[in-house]
Amino acid sequence: MCGIIGYIGNRDAYSILMKGLQRLEYRGYDSAGIALINPNNELYVYKAKGKVSDLEQYVKDKDVSGTLGIAHTRWATHGEPNDVNAHPHYSQSENLALIHNGIIENYAILKAELMKHDYKFVSSTDTEVLVQFIEYLKTIHNTDLVTAVQMALSQVVGAYAIAILEKGNPDRIIAARKSSPLVVGIGNDEYFLASDATPIVEYTNQVIYLDDNEIAVIRRHEGVKIVSISNVEKSPQIQRLSLQLSELEKGGYPHFMLKEIFEQPATLRTCMSGRINLEANNVALSGIIDNKEKFLKARRIIISACGTSWHAGQVAMYLIEELCRIPVTVEYSSEFRYRKSILYKDDIVIVISQSGETADTLAAAQMAKQQGAFLYGICNVVGSSIPRLTDAGSYTHVGPEIGVASTKAFSAQITVLILMALNIAREKATISEERFLTLVKALNDIPNKMKKTLQLNDYIKDFAKIFTYARNFIYMGRGYNFPVALEGALKLKEISYIHAEGYPAAEMKHGPIALIDNEMPVVVIATNKGTYEKIASNIQEIKARKGKVIAIVTEGDQMVKSISDYCIEIPETEECLVPLVASIPLQLLAYHIAVIKGHNVDQPRNLAKSVTVE
Ligand code: AGP
Ligand code: GLU
Repeated sequence: MCGIIGYIGNRDAYSILMKGLQRLEYRGYDSAGIALINPNNELYVYKAKGKVSDLEQYVKDKDVSGTLGIAHTRWATHGEPNDVNAHPHYSQSENLALIHNGIIENYAILKAELMKHDYKFVSSTDTEVLVQFIEYLKTIHNTDLVTAVQMALSQVVGAYAIAILEKGNPDRIIAARKSSPLVVGIGNDEYFLASDATPIVEYTNQVIYLDDNEIAVIRRHEGVKIVSISNVEKSPQIQRLSLQLSELEKGGYPHFMLKEIFEQPATLRTCMSGRINLEANNVALSGIIDNKEKFLKARRIIISACGTSWHAGQVAMYLIEELCRIPVTVEYSSEFRYRKSILYKDDIVIVISQSGETADTLAAAQMAKQQGAFLYGICNVVGSSIPRLTDAGSYTHVGPEIGVASTKAFSAQITVLILMALNIAREKATISEERFLTLVKALNDIPNKMKKTLQLNDYIKDFAKIFTYARNFIYMGRGYNFPVALEGALKLKEISYIHAEGYPAAEMKHGPIALIDNEMPVVVIATNKGTYEKIASNIQEIKARKGKVIAIVTEGDQMVKSISDYCIEIPETEECLVPLVASIPLQLLAYHIAVIKGHNVDQPRNLAKSVTVE
């Protein structure tokens, strides 16, 4: 959600922390702050509402010296985004400064207790309660800071990644996590701490991922010690990052989102590489092959995800039911985890998450595992919490997705799900050899079709300006294109702030048609072969009520083209693969409308890249 960065070493901490905050800004960004211990062992906290650049402006004439510090970009949960609520938060004595990602759920009880002991609070955050609580325990038990942190965290309910500095202790950062990611980077006599590897990769590729309930005590010249909350020491597992710095740059594009849209032909190739073997006419995902029996015996598959990943799950429902003949249900993780869900031992639960850190999906995965289901993960961020929990899984391998609006992760999730469905279908013999080969060849050709579709960028940019007036949009599709409609609507909402809804085209008549007038743009994905006439009739119904139709059709289409106001022609492919191509013009449409409206496309208001709180 928010971003955490820490540094201890021989270099100037301020510039490393600021650069780190900029790299992390995509995670959450309503305010930012920094704590440093200067060479005189004084602890300073600076914070400001707004962007990292506002913080930079604020500290311009301040003392930012020191080789030890922690910094934070906040995505407010408790208390409005303002200077006071920004992190780091001081303890009462101002001896401790703490940054926090997550939510302390029992903060109100703890706060009331602390107030009885004369603790005063300046902010409305749950975080300030935690730092005060740590100081309170340290004082009343007359103990060291690590022990006080252990005591506090064993009484805290909620999710957190925290980092703490202590005045008079210029050689140590203490960090801890539960349900919120934290990575320690090991450099040459220097150490980094961050919510994810993006701000660390330019300094080192050696990292330690903290696990839940672990505390890292990072000491200058001495290294990293990991202890649990219950004080059990663990030997740190150092892993090697494969992330490249160039993957974190815009590479000449005005926004990460546009770069990521245009990267899709290449990212899909990477995602498929080693998994499709055209010479041997084979598709193999190691996670499926290694657990073949489970998939052959599966009575049903339950997919759990949020947002765009949930839309990829919807596409998978059509795919797996068609190709593998296994019943599939798709659940919103937030509902699935709290419903009294019934799971059987021969169920397979697939969790889909770009970040691998989404709180609800992580909790749904934990719940499924506890109930004995076989848990399969489809994630992008290597080493994140979900893949570390699952029994097996497949990475999407698209590199870091920085734009908050998911694009390349979505197409790669669908690609992995297609590969899974093909792999299982062949093992189960629910697909003919001929059909299998047709689909494998067609899938292999999708990157070329995506490239061709991307050439429509200028055309889409051109007509996008007509629709900036709109306050509402409707998206419609049938079958495989219904989830594409949902995803198209979500993209528009997220970055252009235009209200948009996706519907199965035939549902139109059951209510939403009442909304159609001459101001309502309706995006219709009309590539379906089996239901082509039916969707053409749906378009006629919209036109009869003067709606403005933007149609996505197959190249060479005449009929729908003749009745639509704007027509986007995409290359023909197999029906189950259309979502991969059809989502591109919808991503571009949302992007251009948002850019023309002057919005911050990569960091839309109120959103954060990964939702690690409930
Ligand atoms: C996508 O554009 C959104 N930002 C959001 O819906 C996202 O897909 C959702 O929060 C799930 O994230 P995840 O894939 O990292 O779990
Ligand atoms: N709950 C904390 C707050 O509201 C932390 C939010 C975050 O993760 O940025 O300040």
